[in-house]
Amino acid sequence: MSVAKEGPKKITTHVLSEMKMKGEKIAMLTAYDYSIAKIVDKTGLDVILVGDSAANVMAGWETTLPITLDQMIYHAASVVRAVKRAMVVVDMPFGTYQGNSKEAVASAIRMMKETGADALKLEGGQEILESVKRILSAGIPIMGHLGLTPQSIHKFGTYAVRAKQEDEAKKLVEEAHLLQEAGVFGIVLEKVPAVLAEKVAKELTIPIIGIGAGGGVDGQVLVIHDMLGINQDFSPRFLRRYHNLYAEITGAVGNYIEDVKSHDFPNEREQY
Ligand code: KIV
Repeated sequence: MSVAKEGPKKITTHVLSEMKMKGEKIAMLTAYDYSIAKIVDKTGLDVILVGDSAANVMAGWETTLPITLDQMIYHAASVVRAVKRAMVVVDMPFGTYQGNSKEAVASAIRMMKETGADALKLEGGQEILESVKRILSAGIPIMGHLGLTPQSIHKFGTYAVRAKQEDEAKKLVEEAHLLQEAGVFGIVLEKVPAVLAEKVAKELTIPIIGIGAGGGVDGQVLVIHDMLGINQDFSPRFLRRYHNLYAEITGAVGNYIEDVKSHDFPNEREQY
């Protein structure tokens, strides 16, 4: 008799919804490549976001706007090849869904077919609603993203906290409801007041994941390069650094240089 091997339980939109109902917080981080995604997936993290922040931390662009659909497909496919348990959500890059809903669904289908991702994330509210509905009607799960939406940085002109004023806060709440009614399975709220984020998380039945949105939401997301301390140039108030990988890497590379220069590496056991 053959015994079926049980793999880890895959995180789905249904699992995330159950976690919200049970009050169990959702942990989400970004990853952009096979090796990091493989490590992160083994930790029990719930959601891996292949964020378009790859434009910043992987490619060194100032904003997220330059990254292309082909480049996001490359990152997402690399991550998906490594992951067994976590849900993999991929950012649709700037310019691939804002133009018209027909183009949006074509880009979304390409992303899903060529990467094997579980879901896509789109930034914006009312202005992208038609694209959201059309992509959802193709059977593709969508996560929304409101508040500070970095693809609109040239409109905002600043990365400061969003929705501090009553009119913008009211609009954000309305758009969160619109996205939920359209059928998105969750929403990222970036850099908004904690009180507002908590209100949205209480009013909506879908999970609300915060970044710089306080602790009253259903889960948290951070960029992995920031929380591991690889990136030392970015220190917003909301960021908690869990490691100083910058110091670890410079220390290790420094030791290697010293060993090579001093003829210590390689030694007899490290050669053929
Ligand atoms: O691209 C990204 O990493 C993101 C997170 C900051 C939420 O969208």
